[in-house]
Amino acid sequence: MDDRELIKQALEARKGSYSPYSHFAVGAALLTDDGNIFKCCNIENAAYSPSICAERVAFAKAVSEGYRKFTKIAIAGGPADAQELSYCPPCGVCRQVMSEFCDRDFEIILVKSADEYETHTLGELLPLGFSL
Ligand code: THU
Repeated sequence: MDDRELIKQALEARKGSYSPYSHFAVGAALLTDDGNIFKCCNIENAAYSPSICAERVAFAKAVSEGYRKFTKIAIAGGPADAQELSYCPPCGVCRQVMSEFCDRDFEIILVKSADEYETHTLGELLPLGFSL
């Protein structure tokens, strides 16, 4: 799978963001080891704490469909009305959820645009993650 396709899907997913409270729209595209893409966005709630990040929606969708192995995720986020995006690294809770299913070499692609992105590994972003 071409990174560019995953990046395109994350940018596309961002358009579906339900973020009437923060007005911060995030899209994520998660790639399974067998080439399936799960495209998701953040979903907020009036009570705030039930809000869920795009990355965790992606994992919930994929895991509930029986997928357990993942190779990379592309993430694009920023103010809903932004003309240009800054990088939106995953929050700590999302990093922990990734670590449940992914190895240290799982790739996290931070996206500003179709042409501007950078790739990190989960090991880099969560160096001393908790596991049992
Ligand atoms: N958000 C994500 O979707 N992913 C992250 O990794 C960071 C934050 C969402 C949660 C909330 O809906 C909005 O961005 C502002 O925090």
